[in-house]
Amino acid sequence: MASAPHLPVLYQTIITALEPKSGGRYIDGTLGAGGHAAGILAQSSPSGELLGLDLDPQALAIAHERLAPFGERAHIVQASYTAMKIEAAKLAWDAVDGIILDFGVSSMQLDTPERGFSFLHSGPLDMRFTPNAPVSGAGTLSAADLVNTLPEDELANIIFRYGEERLSRKIARTIVNNRPIYTTTELADLILKYIGKKERIHPATRTFQALRIAVNNELESVEMVLPLAVMLLKPGGRLAVISFHSLEDRLTKEYFRRESVDCICPPKQPICTCNHKAIIKELNRKPIEADEAEKQDNSRSRSAKLRMAEKL
Ligand SMILES: C[S@@+](CC[C@H](N)C(=O)[O-])C[C@H]1O[C@@H](n2cnc3c(N)ncnc32)[C@H](O)[C@@H]1O
Repeated sequence: MASAPHLPVLYQTIITALEPKSGGRYIDGTLGAGGHAAGILAQSSPSGELLGLDLDPQALAIAHERLAPFGERAHIVQASYTAMKIEAAKLAWDAVDGIILDFGVSSMQLDTPERGFSFLHSGPLDMRFTPNAPVSGAGTLSAADLVNTLPEDELANIIFRYGEERLSRKIARTIVNNRPIYTTTELADLILKYIGKKERIHPATRTFQALRIAVNNELESVEMVLPLAVMLLKPGGRLAVISFHSLEDRLTKEYFRRESVDCICPPKQPICTCNHKAIIKELNRKPIEADEAEKQDNSRSRSAKLRMAEKL
């Protein structure tokens, strides 16, 4: 397995925004290699605690090692972030001071060929965050299962919707005409051969993103976790969300916009009938991006967008 990257995306911005303090309780819903979590625990010393969740057993093993110096202040659990309320309740936490969600796939996952996330390495077409004995909330079917069994129109819809791929129908037809396909490079080479390279990025890029999102029910999970996270925050508690593609960022933006206003009636309606009340304050209307130095240092940070909100 590849080694952990030294600093996670937008590290200092996240730590500054969450203002971890001793005695505070924090949740990292996407623990990964534990970089953000280590920062939160260090800043909230000596008695801040953190509940860290991840679906990926390899990421959890690294996080365990990295967070070992914090002893019992770090609670590490293999679970989906959509189970954060249940996992917090197991610690008898009914509310927390800060939550971070750093969505998507980590560089470690991308760089590990046998996980099948990247066409840059030859590996099985897997892409599940929990490859063995899936836990609740994790996808059970691998990318190979989808590619080799779905009807052509369903595959095309996935590639169009989750990959925002214009050539989705042509790609789906190519896949169906050439199945079975078992490896990342078989799929990437097939798309390259039949679709051709029309832009700077590899023509399979968007198809890989789409399959990964479908395999792991990523957008459904994002939609589910945002209200849960806000519900779990104490008044004044902060939520930081990092997205890596427009679909995740749009869901976060729309959720934050809706929940930060007192009325969501149609603009032309003269009298409010919705009784909606704002529950959060957006801390930044425009998403925060990594600065040039970080983008140079960590290519993954180039597409990162951070949105933050505070519970009212
Ligand atoms: C970008 S990485 C997080 C990196 C982390 N912030 C760090 O400091 O190392 C995203 C992580 O989210 C995890 N993940 C994806 N979907 C998840 C879900 N529904 N529940 C929990 N973890 C999830 C992935 O396994 C991956 O390890």
